Amino acid sequence: MTQDEMKQKVAETALAFVEEGTIIGVGTGSTANKFIDALAGISDRILGTVASSEATAERLRGHGIPVLDLNDALTRVDALSVYVDGADEFDPGKNLTKGGGGALTREKIVAAASRRFVCIVDESKRVEHLGAFPLPIEVIPMARELVAARVRAMGGEPVLREGFTTDNGNIILDVHGLTINDPRGLEDELNAVPGVVCNGIFSHQRADVVLMGTPSGVETIE
Ligand code: 5RP
Repeated sequence: MTQDEMKQKVAETALAFVEEGTIIGVGTGSTANKFIDALAGISDRILGTVASSEATAERLRGHGIPVLDLNDALTRVDALSVYVDGADEFDPGKNLTKGGGGALTREKIVAAASRRFVCIVDESKRVEHLGAFPLPIEVIPMARELVAARVRAMGGEPVLREGFTTDNGNIILDVHGLTINDPRGLEDELNAVPGVVCNGIFSHQRADVVLMGTPSGVETIE
């Protein structure tokens, strides 16, 4: 099975986590796109969606799937029933690195607004320790050099994602060379640097379920 076919399988498997008559959160990226395309077949069963990026909102609307503003959604329901999204890495504790597509801030917000986070990945995303994938950090543009200096002091090498602006009008620093032994601690430490909007460690918002595509089928990790 190719990587693309594994992504397709996990995307289809995630449909089983979509609860009838609810509002769901939808992630960003190539695996999330396959989920959106699969969701189109059962979209009459849900009230609507909240998108984690403009690109996702556009794809959902292209299928005729209603996209709600998160604030409006949370005046109708206590929480979104489920958030379905991919990841760049996941560890045995279901901590994630996310933000390869630059949508980390909205992804973390929608995940936090959801009762359950179902993460859909192929087996290439499984790691023992997060950190091989450069860690994305969304930064207020004027704080670029301040944040870069603080990150260097933590042992990382920040690289500006050239020509990229987030949906929130900010920049991304991709941090290479970090050893992430304590995902929760590093997530908190980075969030405490002035100018950091969000970092790509999802430990507070780690996955509840990981659906991992393998050549022999989909493995469910709970
Ligand atoms: C986007 C993300 C994606 O979930 C992550 O980059 C994985 O993408 P893909 O499914 O294309 O491998 O965090 O910001």
